[in-house]
Amino acid sequence: MKILVVGGGGREHALCWKLAQSGRVAKLYCAPGNAGIALTRGPKCGPVECVDLGAENLDGLLRFARRERIDLTVVGPEAPLCAGIVDRWESEGLAAFGPPQRGAELEGSKTFTKTLLRKNGIPTADFQSFRDAEKAMQYCRDHGGPLVVKADGLAAGKGVVIAQTGEEAAAAVQTILVDGAFGQAGASVVIEEFLKGEEASILALTDGRSLALLPSAQDHKRAFDNDEGPNTGGMGAYSPAPVVTEEVEDRVVREILIPTLHALNREERPYKGVLYAGLMITEQGPKVLEYNVRFGDPECQCVIPRMTNDLVDVIEKILLGKLSENGVATSPDPAVCVVLASGGYPGAYAKGKPVTGLDADGQVGVEGVTVFHAGTARRADGQVVTSGGRVFGVTATAPSLEAALARAYEAAPKIAFEGAFYRKDIAARALRRR
Ligand code: AMP
Ligand code: GLY
Repeated sequence: MKILVVGGGGREHALCWKLAQSGRVAKLYCAPGNAGIALTRGPKCGPVECVDLGAENLDGLLRFARRERIDLTVVGPEAPLCAGIVDRWESEGLAAFGPPQRGAELEGSKTFTKTLLRKNGIPTADFQSFRDAEKAMQYCRDHGGPLVVKADGLAAGKGVVIAQTGEEAAAAVQTILVDGAFGQAGASVVIEEFLKGEEASILALTDGRSLALLPSAQDHKRAFDNDEGPNTGGMGAYSPAPVVTEEVEDRVVREILIPTLHALNREERPYKGVLYAGLMITEQGPKVLEYNVRFGDPECQCVIPRMTNDLVDVIEKILLGKLSENGVATSPDPAVCVVLASGGYPGAYAKGKPVTGLDADGQVGVEGVTVFHAGTARRADGQVVTSGGRVFGVTATAPSLEAALARAYEAAPKIAFEGAFYRKDIAARALRRR
């Protein structure tokens, strides 16, 4: 089987690493991939071949998939899904893993999702949606804080403002609706009730009828220790998340995931792929903060290594609508991912900084540790250099969370580049719960 993975971050490295282990994969491509992905190899497929095509270059990717007779395309990021990559592939008779465009709106439009949730009585923060800036600002001032103001569309995780006062919320409306800080993604705003609780991510695989839950995870969105600093794409993760007890997980399935699938089906938005619920576990129970239509990053980097069955088999069953025949098997060992980022991230940062400490495979040689590359490139002289804000996800598994953390934090400082920083408190919440 020939597989193409679309994307080039830590998530895609984890997916390539897992797919390469399948004895069923004869050849694995990744577009555009990165330096670490190019060093990943499997027993049968040899090294992953990176293809110089961006994840949003649908025309180029389609030509490539046709020419190379790709049997399966696995889509990492949300942008190509929201742009309809799966619909295009299917109309060409090509197989792609992910939801079609109408399903991907679950991530592409917050107004759509919030309306769907409300209409179906699925627990989520109360909200109002606005296109008119005057009305939105009046609502903020009348209501007072705390409020959460969100750009409607895709804004790479940056379109959310937690406002303590009505005035602050009105200022966020000004930034999004009037100043157009997020372009078209900010043509409307959603203003939400502020929810108190602990966050968790539940990723499920689905063929549109049945669900297979991946183990729970918790992301670390803020840049610095103790959840200080600006929001990022995610500075680390661990799995499982103890806040997701069996009871919580059961409620998420019954009150959130199954009703969401039913609602999508009723609206004739057939869904398959990853259904990722970003949740707030409140005193009243789990509530949806957002839906994503792909693997979370960095969550993927600690959830995928815990999966013990063949990912190709599972994806194949999903595409056949027969997921119930082949669920997900999980190792009991926890996993931890520590992200090494470039100085300045999530703001402006330098690229092209030489990386030291990696061996010829792009790894560090610590037992139980896999270094997933998130933003690396290889220079003509062979030197690995930084090329993104998040540069590495150092992922460790071990029989206990403490042991996994010890491994990850033994490995992380072995990798060095100018300006590198990482959080020292990944999974501290889970340890405090003990
Ligand atoms: P989102 O992209 O919608 O998941 O929002 C990004 C982050 O903002 C979330 O991970 C939460 O930390 C926070 N957030 C979003 N919505 C709310 C809410 N209604 N109440 C409290 N925090 C929120
Ligand atoms: N880690 C959050 C996300 O992937 O959206």
